[in-house]
Amino acid sequence: MTRRGRFITLEGSEGAGKSTNMDAVCDHLAACGVDYYPTREPGGTPMAEALRNLLLSRWEESVSGLSELLVVFAARAQHIENEIIPRLQRGQWVVCDRFTDATFAYQGHGRKVPLARIEQLETWVQGQLQPDLTLYLDVAVEVAQRRVDAREAEKDRLELEQRDFFTRVREGYLQRAEQHKRIVVINAGQELAQVQEDVVQVVSRFVDQHHKGS
Ligand code: TMP
Repeated sequence: MTRRGRFITLEGSEGAGKSTNMDAVCDHLAACGVDYYPTREPGGTPMAEALRNLLLSRWEESVSGLSELLVVFAARAQHIENEIIPRLQRGQWVVCDRFTDATFAYQGHGRKVPLARIEQLETWVQGQLQPDLTLYLDVAVEVAQRRVDAREAEKDRLELEQRDFFTRVREGYLQRAEQHKRIVVINAGQELAQVQEDVVQVVSRFVDQHHKGS
């Protein structure tokens, strides 16, 4: 695949401040004159959004890690083929709220699905496609949980998980960050303004290196 656009992803546990920082990333790209497209996973196309609803709904039966894995990759296949790749090929940048690092963290470490299975699906569904830059917003599990508890919205099926689960998810993300240079860990336990400043600094450096028009 020849692709001219860049692919940036944002990761972090619930309560890490992903949404606000996603806005900060997008505002910065806009200010630099980058043509970008914001999207999210699971989701980003009508069918993938329907699969997202299936994943996050509460069911009167247990849901296995394998089922979750297949749902997120079904959504991802749709998203990659119909949105991500065509846009990157046209030269647009894609900014995605979560991608496959979340699958390794949630289904791999959280649900204990063997990582080798996830790697197989990753190769099958994504081919060579990998993010160019990933910002991982890291925050202590207790802090993140307090923030989620303070929200008014009803918790989805994954937000209802216990502390042990989120501890494993965090360990999973940190392990991936050690293994992949594209993942930059941001301390999301700081004041929001400082977190945003750190995020923008990383994105700004990336834009300087990769955006020819800047
Ligand atoms: P969020 O958009 O609020 O981050 O919610 C998405 C939820 O989906 C979140 O609990 C993490 C979960 N998820 C997975 O379990 N696996 C995945 O591969 C992705 C992309 C998300």
